[in-house]
Amino acid sequence: MRATFTGWGKCVPPTKLTNADLEQLVDTDDDWIVERTGIHERRISHVETTDLAEVAAHRALAAAGLEPADIDMLIMATVTPEITCPSNACVLQERLGAVNAAAFDLNAACSGWIYGTATAASMITGGVAERVLLVGAEKLHWVMDYWDRSTCILFGDGAGAAVLEPSQAGDGVIGTDLGADGVSGRTMVFPTLGTRGRLSSVLDPFQHRLHFDGQAVFKIAVQGIEKSVRRAVDRAGLSLGDVDAVIPHQANERIITAASRRLGLDPDRVMVNIATHGNSAAASVPMALTDALDSGLIQPGAVVVQTAFGGGVTWGSTVTRWGERVTPLGTSDAALVDCDETVFDLLAPNRDFYAPLHAHSPAD
Ligand code: UT7
Repeated sequence: MRATFTGWGKCVPPTKLTNADLEQLVDTDDDWIVERTGIHERRISHVETTDLAEVAAHRALAAAGLEPADIDMLIMATVTPEITCPSNACVLQERLGAVNAAAFDLNAACSGWIYGTATAASMITGGVAERVLLVGAEKLHWVMDYWDRSTCILFGDGAGAAVLEPSQAGDGVIGTDLGADGVSGRTMVFPTLGTRGRLSSVLDPFQHRLHFDGQAVFKIAVQGIEKSVRRAVDRAGLSLGDVDAVIPHQANERIITAASRRLGLDPDRVMVNIATHGNSAAASVPMALTDALDSGLIQPGAVVVQTAFGGGVTWGSTVTRWGERVTPLGTSDAALVDCDETVFDLLAPNRDFYAPLHAHSPAD
């Protein structure tokens, strides 16, 4: 018995942060951002992580033809939970009315979706759960210093979700690779989302902001993705030539291109939506997965590779033989509340909070 994807959906908040907007905040320009990252715009959420997750979850459940009460396990992958106790998954469980679901958060940073898929599939094949709702949701702008051009151009908010259920037909997750290297963990750190340091660190803008060595992460990512995809495809008993669609974490278009080249993958088989979404950590792969299904990249019976790397550092890949159904069974009319603020309104609290760090250089 295997675990297969039966529903999928995403939720992107309506407010766009374009490269032109960023030109007004930091010393950057559209050409630099597009050339170095492939990003044209990203979304900024006016609501909480749970709100994004809830809409994506309703869409995935409708696509699977299920009600919230049908779910017996809810896993939420995030590095920006709305709250840590109760877990964000429990907050979402209440919101959805998924009364029969066990619920927990999972943190593997940008690899959270892949770790979550592996966990969900193992729960199903191990007989612990039958219908798992997996959600990747992030409100990353909350930890972004919009005076720091080296980080604030990269990240965006959003959510993606999927339902996994048992399959007898041979479709489902057929190969997995997961890994981590804590030694390299210092390349990407959110220092105050934990107990480290003094209590007052929580309000210290320097401690609060993302600490990030982009170049180091870039190298780790390209090599890590290549090795991980090879291992997962090998474990599935397949070769790279058998792969029909690749859904990579959307961190940087250059990383996706370099890793795809090393793997000898035809760019037409690789889903790229970073231009409009930026990097949304654990939400990135499920949003790209939904776009891949909507755009027809994933066909019935396709061999689909999902792959990611991220903070920790962590990495992981799954290989799924997709089922016969690539269209949703149903749709949901769930939607976010309207937003009546501009993107600059939404970013004003961040600008105010981090301003003391940049008193002598308005844009570093
Ligand atoms: O999800 C996992 C986490 N994220 C990632 O995996 C991201 C991985 N890293 C990257 O995507 C890239 O390293 C970045 C996009 C972050 C940076 O690209 P890069 O090609 O590595 O640029 P760089 O850091 O080497 O900077 C080159 C120059 C520097 O100027 P000097 O020192 O050469 O004069 C930077 O100060 O570009 C400057 N720069 C910028 N210029 C305009 C850095 N950020 C910007 C900016 N606009 N936003």
